[in-house]
Amino acid sequence: MLLNVLAVGDVVGEGGQDILSRRLPGLREETAAHFVVVNGENASGVGITPAQARRILESGADVVTLGNHTWNRIQIGAFLDKEERILRPANYAGRVPGRGAGVYPCQGLRIAVINLMGRVDLNSNLDSPFKAANFHLSREKYDLALVDFHAEATSEKGAMGWHLDGRAAAVWGTHTHVPTADCRVLPKGTGFVTDLGMTGPINSVLGIKPENSLNLFLGGLPRRYEEAEGSCKLNACLFAIDAETKKCVSVRRADIEE
Ligand SMILES: [Fe+2]
Ligand SMILES: [Fe+2]
Repeated sequence: MLLNVLAVGDVVGEGGQDILSRRLPGLREETAAHFVVVNGENASGVGITPAQARRILESGADVVTLGNHTWNRIQIGAFLDKEERILRPANYAGRVPGRGAGVYPCQGLRIAVINLMGRVDLNSNLDSPFKAANFHLSREKYDLALVDFHAEATSEKGAMGWHLDGRAAAVWGTHTHVPTADCRVLPKGTGFVTDLGMTGPINSVLGIKPENSLNLFLGGLPRRYEEAEGSCKLNACLFAIDAETKKCVSVRRADIEE
């Protein structure tokens, strides 16, 4: 039997949440996905509120992962402690609320999901994501493991894929909001893609209004970023995992554009 895992890129703002709630149920069916992980760190633009996390779960996510914007809406802290289906990066160095890994039942299997964050050009105060991966993979009790590596550098994400090859069934990158064309199965059976992309407005810079971003690059005063308007896309990848061997057999993109 194949276990199909759908991983959805960073959900940005109202537009992202809207397309997710309208299209994820159909995409789940179309791809015969058994398990869905959605990165929700940009549901509020930056950060996520408990209500937005609930909405993503109700849209059909089994687990919500986060990233560098985890604490932008600090009210999520208490929610992270009580809702096991939402994870923040496991390698925060300090004592922060919530958990970075969880184990969830699906099709008679125990699926471990680990959320990690990169240090290169992102947050140098973090513990090593590579060592955090080792820690959780050796500590949790599971049948197969999935990893959302929220990182900026393609090099760091690629290295993580090889670090976990044969130990995780799938490793995907999030954070850059730009989908990459490198879906592949690594030699020891780990499905890998450098970045899923994002779920949000198409005519934008990473989901925000182009003029907000341009203003900064043209030397203007920093302004509050606003979510872009108009049609949205949903960026996702589908990992087919052999339930016997726990190895990934195929990875493909499963994007929707409206
Ligand atoms: Fe991010
Ligand atoms: Fe993001």
